[in-house]
Amino acid sequence: MALHHFLLNGQTVSLEAPEDMPLLWVLRDVFGVTGPKYGCGVGVCGACTSHLNGHAFRPCIQPVGGVHGQRVTTIEGLGGGEAPHPVQQAWIDEDVAQCGFCQPGQIMAAVALLQSHPQPTDADIDAAMSDNVCRCGTYVRIRSAIKRAAL
Ligand code: FES
Repeated sequence: MALHHFLLNGQTVSLEAPEDMPLLWVLRDVFGVTGPKYGCGVGVCGACTSHLNGHAFRPCIQPVGGVHGQRVTTIEGLGGGEAPHPVQQAWIDEDVAQCGFCQPGQIMAAVALLQSHPQPTDADIDAAMSDNVCRCGTYVRIRSAIKRAAL
């Protein structure tokens, strides 16, 4: 066991946990932050995608010991809280979600893409989003929402 501190959606949090506990467990089970979803648990589906220091990452394969003193943002921390983040608004406008399970991860991946590529091409979108799986097949609407948010 070790004591860990990190910034979670703008607030400093601390807990005692084994160094190798997956951060996704910490987010969901310790802090009740359930936007990041458990899909595969091995870093391949993208359902848990969140941001570490502003970059997309997968908390299911990130040991909590590796985020000490760093900035973790989940979908709960997007935007100012009053209004949806522009990418969330684009998702609403394009009516993207079907079952919705993968959508927090999809949105977090899209926000990271738009930060690095404000005007992404189709190839940029494919490269950034292809590892975020959607069993409902909302990929066409995801692409439309990313383009809408980029306008
Ligand atoms: Fe993290 Fe699938 S649950 S990538």
